[in-house]
Amino acid sequence: RERQHQLEIQQLIETFPLFAKVDEHSQEELLLLFRPKSALPGERVMRKGDRGDGMYFLSSGAVEVRLPGGAVRLEPGAFFGEMALLSGGRRTADVIAIDFCQFLVLERRDFNMFTARHPALRSAVSDMARERTEMNALN
Ligand code: CMP
Repeated sequence: RERQHQLEIQQLIETFPLFAKVDEHSQEELLLLFRPKSALPGERVMRKGDRGDGMYFLSSGAVEVRLPGGAVRLEPGAFFGEMALLSGGRRTADVIAIDFCQFLVLERRDFNMFTARHPALRSAVSDMARERTEMNALN
């Protein structure tokens, strides 16, 4: 059981290096907080204008973020849906699965609770959100 846990954590960090920053106990906690979710090719994962229900970590497959300037493709290891959680606002874009996808979802309240206790993680996520916002403003 313990060994199984170790493997899961190792896998988690390999796919999402972001979580290498947090301590082992918190990595275990994440495994419990994550809600597994999947999508079929063509399925809409997020709708622009919706309230943000969670942040999504893509473990397999690929999604497209549909932006006015074109689509951005995200691959395993990427995350999305952070913007609406950080701003408390609405989804800024449609996100469409373009392959069979598996996600780990951190629900809004868990995101708030967990990132409040891990400021380094929260700022890493904020940095990415800021980068994306700046990129979108240029297109
Ligand atoms: P959110 O606004 O909650 O929902 C749509 C998501 O698309 C957004 O969070 C980001 O995670 C993602 N997104 C928006 N713009 C970009 C971009 N330029 N590159 C990659 N992902 C983006």
